[in-house]
Formats: sequence, structure tokens, C-alpha cells
Amino acid sequence: MGIENDLVGQNDIQLENLLQCFFQKQGTYPAYYIGGTSFGKSSEKTSNVISPINGEPFVKINLANESNINDVVEHSVTAFQQWQSVPAPKRGLLVLAFSQKVNTHKHQLAKIITLESGKPYQESLGEVQEVIDVCQFAVGLSRQLYGLTIATERPNHRMMEQWHPLGVVGIITAFNFPMAVWAWNAMLALVCGNSVIWKPSEQCPLSALSLHELLISSAKDLDFSADLSSVIFADKDTSQAFVENKKVSLLSATGSCAMGKQVAPLVAKRMGRYLLELGGNNAMIISQHANLQLALNAVAFSALGTSGQRCTSLRRLIVHESIMDEVCDKLVNIYKSVAVGDPFDGKNLMGPVISLDTIKNIEGALVKAKAQGGLTLYHGGCVKINNLAGYYVRPELIKIKSNAAILKQETFAPILYVSAYDDLEQAIEMQNDVPQGLSSAIFTQDVCEAEIFLSSSGSDCGIANVNIGTSGAEIGGAFGGEKETGGGRESGSDAWKSYMRRCTNTINYGQNLPLAQGIQFDL
Ligand code: UN1
Repeated sequence: MGIENDLVGQNDIQLENLLQCFFQKQGTYPAYYIGGTSFGKSSEKTSNVISPINGEPFVKINLANESNINDVVEHSVTAFQQWQSVPAPKRGLLVLAFSQKVNTHKHQLAKIITLESGKPYQESLGEVQEVIDVCQFAVGLSRQLYGLTIATERPNHRMMEQWHPLGVVGIITAFNFPMAVWAWNAMLALVCGNSVIWKPSEQCPLSALSLHELLISSAKDLDFSADLSSVIFADKDTSQAFVENKKVSLLSATGSCAMGKQVAPLVAKRMGRYLLELGGNNAMIISQHANLQLALNAVAFSALGTSGQRCTSLRRLIVHESIMDEVCDKLVNIYKSVAVGDPFDGKNLMGPVISLDTIKNIEGALVKAKAQGGLTLYHGGCVKINNLAGYYVRPELIKIKSNAAILKQETFAPILYVSAYDDLEQAIEMQNDVPQGLSSAIFTQDVCEAEIFLSSSGSDCGIANVNIGTSGAEIGGAFGGEKETGGGRESGSDAWKSYMRRCTNTINYGQNLPLAQGIQFDL
């Protein structure tokens, strides 16, 4: 049976097919998927997807052209028109059914994430759990989409807010969280009554297809239109048509600051809405009042987890000068001992990085850091694993002065810079002195230091933690950051409001027409 025929519209067995495709290195995937139908079985542009684990191509994907993208958007508009009239708690049932399928296939899904992104299997399981968690949140939310009733100044009047769906929500995701970030957006967007179109990273097509497949099969089970979910494979140039399409009411994009700077003006030009979750460059302050063991464990997970390729990864460590030597020595020991290798082997805390480009970026950053006075505490470099041509590196630890320019640049890789501070005010200034503003942390047992860090003159990031690392946020909080991180908030809290439009209604149930602000306009 041809793989293309198997791709969608079947049942959950599909996931096994996706895995087989990977191992058998066969199949060229269609370029786009509207509900249960795939299109673009031959297209002008294709892309070979390379596994970071062995450096070999495993599947090929066709890439959509501009007219394909516009076609998907038209179908998605039609699907939205039906979906928005389904009561929100019923929309929640779709998310509930989807989450049950995700749970059933948790291990297969995690395997797909690891194969495509190179992320350690334990972390991939965590990512699938994050999908399930946000589904649970969205199901609850489907019965809590509330507006305010506001006191009016006019007699016999009532003023209230209603929240209505927006329309088509476009979701652009990156390789590092190839499932969870879509789920943060899509699950909220769906319960809010929108249809969704997903443009995943070209590096992770199977992650996208597997979740899309589970979603549309859930929609079919419940007799909802499967067309409310679509997937497009497209390169950067063609994706512009997606970004510029006026019928995409909200464009949610996760990726680099550079990408966000291109996307934002294009959406703004058409007066559309965007929701950006961009670079991090996150810092942690370790005070002389910290529980050091706790802090070092947190550094290890935040700096080394996902091989330093989370937007929340720890990139800058700001350590009180009185404990600088001790922290550096202990970190060097941790860095020496961390196991790098096959991401399916549980003993390895680091798998490969995503591509050769990342390795080049590491090398470039190291040269710059050295030129700016950086002192290498631990140099990892490239390592060969099982004779595979995968992209394995050990991490880098560099001591550097707090005014080094490299500290302002985010390298999406396992490089950690360590600098010293002498008072908390200076440490906070150092922490804030970068263009990005996603996540931040302080380790201290001193309640005053903790509160100062969290106050309005403390961390300027969207996420500020005490005695917790910069990465690994739960879905219940709003996720996102300030400055060049883009200002968007996704996932928990009231992030759902980004996926809806607010409509203020004033109702007159009297027989007179009093005007606001006391204006007289007697005819
Ligand atoms: C990302 O890297 O884009 O807080 C998302 C974390 C994860 C999500 C990261 N829950 O590290």
C-alpha cells in the first residue's frame, strides 16, 4: 500500500505507519492536508528531512505553493463558519476525545518527537504530557469562557462583554517543541470556536501529521467537520503567503526573534493580529543566600535539557562573587559527567542538536566569546556517537565579564556563560540588560531578595521564578515574554483571550434614550 494513501483519514494505526516510514526511509509526503484529505502529492519544491540522530535523510516532504496555501485558508474559513456555532462545551468534547487518543499513543508520539528533534525520550514523554495537560485545561475552559457585566451610568441599561471566536488561527511552530506548542495554541483556539491551520517546522513533519491525524479522527468520531484542522508544509519564502493572508485572523508564531521581526510587520500591514513567542536568552541569579545544591540541579536541567534548545533554556548565569569559584568548580564537574548520546538511551541527558548549522553557530559564538575575554571552563565540542553522522556535541561553559557583547546574543545551543555580581541591584540590571525577555530565575533563601527580584523593578521578563530554573514551565500559567521575545502569551491563565474578539454590548430595556456623558440631544 502506498504511503501517500495511508497518510490521513485512516485510524490510529496511522502512527505506526509514520514510524515505519521513518525506519524504512521511504515516502514523499503530500504538501498539505485539509481535514482527512491530503493534497500536493507532487510539487515543484521538496525537502529532505534529516534525522539529527544519524545525519541521514528519513523522509521527503512536498512543499506547498502560494495557491495551495490560499486554498487551505479558504477551506478553513468554511470550517470555521460551522464550528463557531457549536456551543463551546461541545467543542470541549472534541479536545477531550483528542487528549484521550494522545494519552493512548503517548509512547509512539514521544518516539516520533525524539526521532525528528533528537530530544531525549524522557523529555519527549514530558512534551506529550504537556499536550495532554493543555487539553485538560482547554476542556475546563470550554465551560468558562466568560465576559464581564459592567455597571452603566444610564438607567434601565445593562452593559456586558461577550467573547466571540476570531476565525482562522494560523500556527507556526519550531522543531524544539514540535507537538506541545501547537497544542497550546490549537486546543485553546478550538474551544474558543476557531479553525486551525498548522505550519510545522520542516524538520518535524511526522510530529505534525500524527497529532493532526488524531485530531481529525476525533472530529470524525464526534461528527464534527475534520476540516477545522489543516497542515501545510512550506518553506520560508512561501510561508509569507500564509502570513499575509487576510483571512488568517490570528497568526501565532514561535521561533527566533529574527523570524518574528519579519512576521510582525507583514501581519500588522494587513491589520491582522499576531501572537509571538520568540527568543529567550534567559538568566539565573545565584545569590550567596542560595541553597546551592538546588541551584546547581536547576542549572543542569535548564542549561543542558533539550541540548540547550528550549526557548526557556538557561544561557546566562549570574553568580554572587563570594561563591563564584565554588559554583564554577561544581558546574565543571557536572558538565564533565553529563552523558551525551542516543536520545533513546535513558542514561543520556543530552541527545544531538538539531543540525549542522547549530554546530556552526556554537563554533562562531565560541570564537566571539574568546575574543571578548571569555575563559573556557569546560569545552565540549563535537563528539562521535556509535559511529553515526548525527549532530552530537558536549556542552560549553564559559566565564565572562558582565559587559561582554556576546551576552546579548542568543545562541540556540548548550552554551552557558557565567558572570559574577556583587550586589543584587547589579545582578538584576545584568539579568535585564539583553534585548530578549522570556524567562528568568533567582536562587535565594532570603525572602527579601526573592521579592525584590519579582517586583516591578526586578526581572523584566514574562516569566520570573524563585528557586526554580528558567525552563520547564507548567501549562497553567500564561507563557511568553517581553521585549524582542514578542509580547505574546500562550497556554494557561487568560491567554485564551488572544484567540477571541471582545464585543461590548449595551442594552436599553427602558422607554427613554438617555445619552452617556449627560449629553442632551432633544429633537
Ligand atoms: C519552547 O521552548 O518553545 O517551559 C517551549 C518550558 C516548556 C516549553 C518550552 N514547558 O521549557
